Amino acid sequence: MEGRSAAEFMQARTHIWNHMLRYVDSSSLKCAVELGVPDAIHSHGGPMTISELVQALSIPASRAPFLRRIMRLLVDSGFFSILKRNEDDDDDDDDDDVYDLTSSSKLLINNGSSESLAPLVLFISGLEIEMAGQSIGAWIKGGEVTETPFHLAHGKGVFEYAEERPEFNAAFNDAMASDSRVLMRAVVKDWGQVLFGGLRSLVDVGGGSGGAAAAIAEAFPEVKCSVLDLPHVVAVQPEIDLVEFVKGDMFVHVPHADAVLLKWILHGWNHEECIKILRMCKNAIPKKENGGKVIIIDAVLGHGVENHDTMGIPYFLDIIIMTVSTGKERDEKEWNAIFLQAGFQSYKIICDLGVYCVIEIYP
Ligand SMILES: C[S@@+](CC[C@H](N)C(=O)[O-])C[C@H]1O[C@@H](n2cnc3c(N)ncnc32)[C@H](O)[C@@H]1O
Repeated sequence: MEGRSAAEFMQARTHIWNHMLRYVDSSSLKCAVELGVPDAIHSHGGPMTISELVQALSIPASRAPFLRRIMRLLVDSGFFSILKRNEDDDDDDDDDDVYDLTSSSKLLINNGSSESLAPLVLFISGLEIEMAGQSIGAWIKGGEVTETPFHLAHGKGVFEYAEERPEFNAAFNDAMASDSRVLMRAVVKDWGQVLFGGLRSLVDVGGGSGGAAAAIAEAFPEVKCSVLDLPHVVAVQPEIDLVEFVKGDMFVHVPHADAVLLKWILHGWNHEECIKILRMCKNAIPKKENGGKVIIIDAVLGHGVENHDTMGIPYFLDIIIMTVSTGKERDEKEWNAIFLQAGFQSYKIICDLGVYCVIEIYP
């Protein structure tokens, strides 16, 4: 307390507590998704009491008070709303409280919805990523030199780990695909003509489950869309109409196409690796005057409108990227240096999607 007023001390303490406890936000959100709360309310067709939720989710009745406490936090953070079923009833019966979806939890309905971020929530707040996050301090200290904190925690890199563990591989691919579907629908709707109009072919390099390629192919069936990804990823993908899957390594070969899409790829690699990938992409596309381009979807730090809600996200993502890969989130100057060194003549930031930008680069 030396030299500090009590108010200053309390403010500092509150600041620390708020940050220290942030993980409870994500573990509670994960809990609700794991239990299937958004799905239950959606299937019920309207707001539910805790007893109804407990029954629908096949949770032992004795656990109801614990679920109520999780729901209280998630109401506070805007994932559910709460209202009284019998407005006139002014007794304090908890079972008059009914919980409803908000626009955020509607995006977490998982049962068959093509617009769900539930797999992303489960993966990012999952044990493997959390364990890697717990290793950041030791990794930075560098007692044992490994490429990433994920290597330190799990003895290998994230892609090798995925290759050996089908469940992790599926969770990773589902997580990427879930955000891809939601984001790509918006991109195709608002920017599709600018980005994909006039193309004859496009290859989505590191395209995972093909969610982005499928969204493009549905809206532009005349564009021949393919996905290049690692053999263990392609091997488990179901066939998708209008999308061809190709097994391969982007550091070795990228199939020819008018355009290459790199969505959430380059932020996972360091400067030199990005240059190698982009050189491969440049070899795969025609000259600019013949329509050749690479379309990149990644964060551009400091670009676009930042508001209070989105402000911290690129920095959070940067730490997750550092945890699992050799890459980083970059500002425009860093991107420009990579593009030039990979032999591209120019670039254009086409649009700003909140946290991400779409950049076209031209050979
Ligand atoms: C962060 S995910 C992005 C997936 C997808 N583009 C999306 O936005 O949903 C990175 C992808 O790159 C793939 N990948 C990693 N190394 C690769 C390589 N050497 N060649 C091709 N794909 C690779 C991974 O398997 C994974 O699907």
